Amino acid sequence: MKFERLPDHVAIVMDGNGRWAKMRNLPRLAGHNAGMKALKEIVKRSSTLGIRHLTVYAFSTENWRRPSEEVGGIFKILVQYVDKELGELHENNVKVSVLGNYKKLPEDAVKKLEEALRKTKDNSGLQFHIALNYGSRDEILQAVKGVARDVAAGNLAESELTEAVFSQYLFTKDIPDPDLVIRTSGEVRLSNFLLWQSAYSEFVFSEVYWPDFTPERYEEAIAEYAKRARRFGGVK
Ligand code: IPE
Ligand code: IPE
Ligand code: MG
Repeated sequence: MKFERLPDHVAIVMDGNGRWAKMRNLPRLAGHNAGMKALKEIVKRSSTLGIRHLTVYAFSTENWRRPSEEVGGIFKILVQYVDKELGELHENNVKVSVLGNYKKLPEDAVKKLEEALRKTKDNSGLQFHIALNYGSRDEILQAVKGVARDVAAGNLAESELTEAVFSQYLFTKDIPDPDLVIRTSGEVRLSNFLLWQSAYSEFVFSEVYWPDFTPERYEEAIAEYAKRARRFGGVK
């Protein structure tokens, strides 16, 4: 597809893995596995379309409330994904980054992620941000604490604190705000994702479960975005 306007930054809430599995009488982890396959295709398509930033919500600060077998399984699948895909991501010039307090993940996952960060750090293609143990309220709270520390230490004056400066205290510092936020599985909520950053994002909600979100569906969402009139509070 050809687009009139391409989003610079697409952020996706990859939701519906569990229901996808349930529909097939499979364990929830089978859904997470299928979800990783879908992710692989969306990353590839983002690269070929020339999208600059792709952020995916992979694990929220609230997802720790799930049974420990599921939580452990999700991280195992993540390690497998990085193991299998890192070579190709690197060949495709993709730069991986992580948003969230990922150091709280199991040790093998932390190691794998750091390997991916190290290996791809100089790549100039698609910037692929994985939100892991990410929660927007947590992010904002950490940012406020950072600001408070810098003010107390005399490194920042209250009068210097602008929206742009505050943004630099967030996990997403140096990443432009998402132009398009997509959520799959029919749920119409943010679930603590990019609250500050999505102030003026366009939203597209898809009814399909994440494992069924094909590159074709992705392009439909981008086409929908291209039709939207963005006003940012002004007039067109
Ligand atoms: C999204 O799918 C993946 C994660 C939250 C890790 P879900 O696991 O939330 O799937 P549903 O919403 O239960 O169908
Ligand atoms: C949001 O999905 C988090 C991720 C996709 C990683 P959830 O499935 O956790 O969200 P809720 O619980 O339906 O709001
Ligand atoms: Mg869900």
